Amino acid sequence: METLKGIRACVFDAYGTLFDYASAAAALRDDLGEQFASLTSLWRDKQLQYTWLRTCQGLHADFWQVTGDALDFTLESLGRADPVLRERLMNLYLRLETFPEVVGVLEALQPRYRLAILSNGTPQMLDAIVTHAGIGRFFEAVLSVEDAHAFKPAAGVYALAEQRLGISREQILFCSSNAWDAYAASAFGFRVVWCNRYGQKPERLPGAPDCVVQSLADLPPLLA
Ligand code: LAC
Repeated sequence: METLKGIRACVFDAYGTLFDYASAAAALRDDLGEQFASLTSLWRDKQLQYTWLRTCQGLHADFWQVTGDALDFTLESLGRADPVLRERLMNLYLRLETFPEVVGVLEALQPRYRLAILSNGTPQMLDAIVTHAGIGRFFEAVLSVEDAHAFKPAAGVYALAEQRLGISREQILFCSSNAWDAYAASAFGFRVVWCNRYGQKPERLPGAPDCVVQSLADLPPLLA
């Protein structure tokens, strides 16, 4: 608890933290059958790999393209290459469901903290999911990595939040369910809550999240 004193803003990762990326393929479960789960995990894994690789290479493409490229790889790998299925899944990615506790947590935090999103998503993708979920009113800023022309975990991406909010990094609490993102944000100098929704083991990477919780519902009490 001691570690979470002095926080002025809470900055949230989007995909996997506020928004359930699995809800896209889940909506087509009847069509996808047993492949629904493997499609979700391969699509997500490939999407992230492409972000890291492109940033290492200095060959940036935006998250919409990377997400589509990863989906193409996934559908072909699963023997399901089909332009109609592709389009349905990409459209569903613009209408992802929020995790059940999200609205209540944002309502609890907003009176006391400045709130923002910092995500790999393009401004258009983020606008679509935030609007669809009806949670735009909670956020002072929805920040896209497109302003840094690189993906997480590039330090310049995390710096966007510091610059935009105009406060120092140790006054920002960054919340992510992506372990690598939580560790990298900590290494950057944010205070960090790793929302370990997926029951993962600790990473062996630079950084050390200040707190680990299972759900964002555990966040307001940590800041009380
Ligand atoms: C994001 C990815 C990492 O929203 O989930 O930035």
